[in-house]
Amino acid sequence: MFEASCPDGLCPGWSIVLKGEAPSEANEFEINFLCDVDDRIAFHFNPRFTESGIVCNSFMANHWGQEETCSNFPFGAEEPFQIEIYSDSENFHVNIDETKIMQFKHRVEDLKTITKVQVVNDVNISSLEITKKHFY
Ligand code: GAL
Repeated sequence: MFEASCPDGLCPGWSIVLKGEAPSEANEFEINFLCDVDDRIAFHFNPRFTESGIVCNSFMANHWGQEETCSNFPFGAEEPFQIEIYSDSENFHVNIDETKIMQFKHRVEDLKTITKVQVVNDVNISSLEITKKHFY
């Protein structure tokens, strides 16, 4: 598990770039943008190798919300990838290997409460870079 925090808020403005690869026999991994209150997940990005699909969701008030899926699945076991996720005031934007694959409209109202990013489960991380991309 990898977790990094940015107490002044990650969204909007910051970009994360994860480089890594899934091990052979990977089931799934997750990138979660967490809020500093109430165990909220503002954005759950969940590539599932078992389904060859990406499931995205939020977790608020102890419940998963409406799933948004992306049938584009540019991952393979032991194939290096780069995922970039950044947000503007409207959406999270996801690029994989420099190609935009999806966006996810913000569900958390106060974006400044999104302060942590977490990477969990079946992924070997080479690097995780967090940089300020836009100034708000
Ligand atoms: C559930 C799964 C969670 C999360 C959620 C997203 O079925 O157990 O880990 O991925 O779906 O909607």
